[in-house]
Amino acid sequence: MQNKQSIHGAWANRWIFILAATGSAVGLGNIWKFPYIAGENGGGAFVLVYLVCILLVGVPIMMAEVLVGRRGRQSPINSMRETAYEAGHHGRWAGVGWLGALAGFLIFSFYSVVAGWVLYYIAGMGSGKFIGLGSEQAGQVFGALLEDPKTLLIWHTVFVGLVMIVIAGGVNKGLERATRVLMPLLFVLLFVLLGYSINSGYFSQGWDFLFHFKPEALTWEAVLVAMGHAFFTLSLGMGSIMAYGSYMGKKDSIGGTVLMIAGLDTLVALVAGLAIFPIVFGNQLDPGAGPGLMFITLPVAFSQMAGGQVFGFLFFLMVGFAAWTSAISLMEPGAAWLVESLGVSRPVAAVILGALVWLLGLLALGSFNVTSDLLVFGMTAFDFLDFITANIMLPLGGMLVALFVGWYLTREMTEDELALRSSGVYMLWRFVLRYISPVAVAVVFALNLYQKFAG
Ligand code: PHE
Ligand code: NA
Repeated sequence: MQNKQSIHGAWANRWIFILAATGSAVGLGNIWKFPYIAGENGGGAFVLVYLVCILLVGVPIMMAEVLVGRRGRQSPINSMRETAYEAGHHGRWAGVGWLGALAGFLIFSFYSVVAGWVLYYIAGMGSGKFIGLGSEQAGQVFGALLEDPKTLLIWHTVFVGLVMIVIAGGVNKGLERATRVLMPLLFVLLFVLLGYSINSGYFSQGWDFLFHFKPEALTWEAVLVAMGHAFFTLSLGMGSIMAYGSYMGKKDSIGGTVLMIAGLDTLVALVAGLAIFPIVFGNQLDPGAGPGLMFITLPVAFSQMAGGQVFGFLFFLMVGFAAWTSAISLMEPGAAWLVESLGVSRPVAAVILGALVWLLGLLALGSFNVTSDLLVFGMTAFDFLDFITANIMLPLGGMLVALFVGWYLTREMTEDELALRSSGVYMLWRFVLRYISPVAVAVVFALNLYQKFAG
């Protein structure tokens, strides 16, 4: 059973898997979200908690997800069921896959709106609209975009269409080719931007903001946000990495591969922060500006640098590609399930899912204009979708995967799939997965509830 291939295809080799999974991981979460939530939560202490979560919770759970995917060789829903059966347990574990597919669907709806902003900025940079912007005007440009539902709708639609095309093409076509070209380019541009920010004269202020530990800024809510972001940024807790793992070669090492993916993702987030905060401080902008942070600071930087128009265009293009490769992975678990279980073709699966996320995206999109008064638990639809997915559904999904793989799969199954060279490393991984990761998630949940209702 464990050697069979997925009916959807397989990555050409180990590097393609790394690149594809990194394409899933590296996205708006790194370049857009990480800097702005670090800014809102006071920087240093938040970043430290986030890094601890990546190591203690993210890496072990990512290994668990890849393991289940490769063992089950199907969509997350069916792989969870298959591996549960193989270990002699109940097929109800498929419910974790369902929870994940739902989370992916909800994330997609607001992810696509932000990706739409990126597409608008690609066009704006390309047409020279942003030349010579000061920080105040950059804020106005972004504000005007949010208030314009028609423009938002166009770009949201374009983005959903782009993802549907790739999903329709399947695993090997499109996705594989795109990641090969786009990911290296993303890295090159990010480092050019870092170079600019190092020379901006404010680099050390940006560095201190991110790495200077200020414990007083830390609340339990900030810890929840940091933990939730660790799941979000690594694409965990909803089946993306599990789906990608189901296309992975049987002989490739899961541990080494996962460390590589998590390392690259963390690197991109930190470099994005180091590129953005010096510009924030250099222009007296507010680090806690929220979702607009990247869309206001970067155009300012580009308008001041030589060749900024070309560079800004290329940069937003790369952010767009990063968002694209991530959004594909948000849709892949659902698409694979539709193909397996309902027997529809890939294009039909793409159309069904595309229509659903497009519709839900309208709510997220309206949060900034026509439906801004529609509040759920005091949040706009956009904020609510972000909050329940990143801060609740992903950690919950990840915790259930940790419990499943740590306590319910047999030791032979996990030892065989991981094939770690050292049994000490295996024991350490298993210990962390059984005790540390799920308990950490539970404690952070509990303390937040306590603070909300008793504190
Ligand atoms: N990891 C992606 C990012 O950082 C977002 C994502 C979350 C993708 C969950 C897939 C699944 O932008
Ligand atoms: Na990420």
